Amino acid sequence: MCMKRKTTFFTSLSLFGFSMTIAILTGQQAPSEAPAGFDTPTLQTANAGSQSISNGISEPAGDSFARDQQVFEAREDSRLGLGPVFNATSCSECHQNPVTGGASQITEIRVGHTDDNGNFVNPAVPINGGTISGRSVINDRAICPDVQEHVPESENIRTLRAVLNTLGDGFIEAIDDNTLIGIANNQPNLSGGEINGEAIQVPILEAPGQTRIGRFGWKDQHGSLLSFTADAYLNEMGVTSRLKPSDTTTICKITADPEDAPDELGMANIDHFAQFIRGTKVPPRDTALAARPEAQAGQTIFENIGCNICHVESITTAPAGTMLDGGTFLVPDALGNKVIHPFSDFLLHDIGTGDGIVQAAPQDTAAKLRTTPLWGLRMKARFMHDLTSLTLERAIARHAGEARHVAKQFRGLTASDKSALIAFLKSL
Ligand code: HEC
Ligand code: HEC
Repeated sequence: MCMKRKTTFFTSLSLFGFSMTIAILTGQQAPSEAPAGFDTPTLQTANAGSQSISNGISEPAGDSFARDQQVFEAREDSRLGLGPVFNATSCSECHQNPVTGGASQITEIRVGHTDDNGNFVNPAVPINGGTISGRSVINDRAICPDVQEHVPESENIRTLRAVLNTLGDGFIEAIDDNTLIGIANNQPNLSGGEINGEAIQVPILEAPGQTRIGRFGWKDQHGSLLSFTADAYLNEMGVTSRLKPSDTTTICKITADPEDAPDELGMANIDHFAQFIRGTKVPPRDTALAARPEAQAGQTIFENIGCNICHVESITTAPAGTMLDGGTFLVPDALGNKVIHPFSDFLLHDIGTGDGIVQAAPQDTAAKLRTTPLWGLRMKARFMHDLTSLTLERAIARHAGEARHVAKQFRGLTASDKSALIAFLKSL
């Protein structure tokens, strides 16, 4: 591990020198820090939008960041397309802590089973007069008693999944595929071959036939924010859109698909959701806590024992003007060439906590989860994908598999080094 320490240090030094050289050779501007802040307080009234501050992203003609946020906070009902099955009535019902777009303590249910070859199979969920199939989510709510879902006894793979933060996700979308592949390729060198992040190609719904490296969701099941919002609108709220045009069941339905129609600006709600998320700042550090010597010592320990091999500290987004998402999204000035500190590699790892669910192929992802970004960690009271770890120590103790040597290093720390590491985590 002593060797590894040196390799990590020198590799990051030489990578830094390398990118400096590229910047000088290409005449490209040095990247700047992404703006940080919990600056999207819940809008109580239509004109409270002035309190909400975006990262400076340019808005489509006639649109505003406050309007995008209002759509993200709007409560739906069955006349607007909610259900028949759903989990909550607005995006911000789950994405709220401490401001609109954050995470929260809400979990949802995913289930399934394996076939004779050991491959994951989605459940067929019986409801009164029909079946809901083709997905692993079991919705907790329904607009009428007939369609209420229940976990079939046959589905012996069962897990809870926590809400994820969306603040700053526009910067994650703006990371070039090759940056993530580069991180993955470097991990075996940094870890004596033990850590091998998996990057998977996932479909871009708005660019049929095109794929990109997945980076959103616990399983990296999406690579574009517009794709994720359309998926969430259907699976969390039961609202269909041009990208997810069919509802899970027709029973109890009183609206025609697709329910999410364009407004007078030509934007559907999914467009406003994606525009809102792309306009949010990254979760800010607690600068007072971060400046304390204990937290700073803790960060050095975090790096020395190799937590940062997966929880990657700094990533630079693609330059403004880069075309992403299968040719449908041009990186805007506000998101391009920015340094972010997500403390994640956005890759899938088997650290022994895999929930058995497969969302985007291949099958080996059943045992894996995306490295949770640690930015905004101090806004959580429960941890890990199922939120069953109630302290950071317990969350770290669950790291095994690819993380077993790093976790062993943690266990070997002195009590004061451990508490310094925890003090650092609490400043995030
Ligand atoms: C019932 C709670 C709930 C509601 C309502 C909800 N979400 Fe989520 N959201 C989640 C959960 C849980 C996840 C993690 C999903 C997974 O990967 O299993 C998530 C993940 C996300 C992510 C991925 C974040 C990341 O960095 O990986 C985005 C984007 C997102 N939601 C957008 C939305 C939008 C837009 C809406 C409204 C249409 C919405 N969500 C409504 C619970 C919710
Ligand atoms: C091999 C990659 C890897 C390494 C090394 C690693 N982690 Fe993780 N970490 C993960 C993954 C994957 C998850 C999500 C697991 C889950 O939710 O079941 C995670 C989750 C966490 C969480 C929970 C975050 C939340 O919001 O719930 C914390 C805290 C954490 N890691 C801290 C650490 C620390 C501290 C170290 C070093 C001792 C470390 N990790 C090393 C991959 C890694």
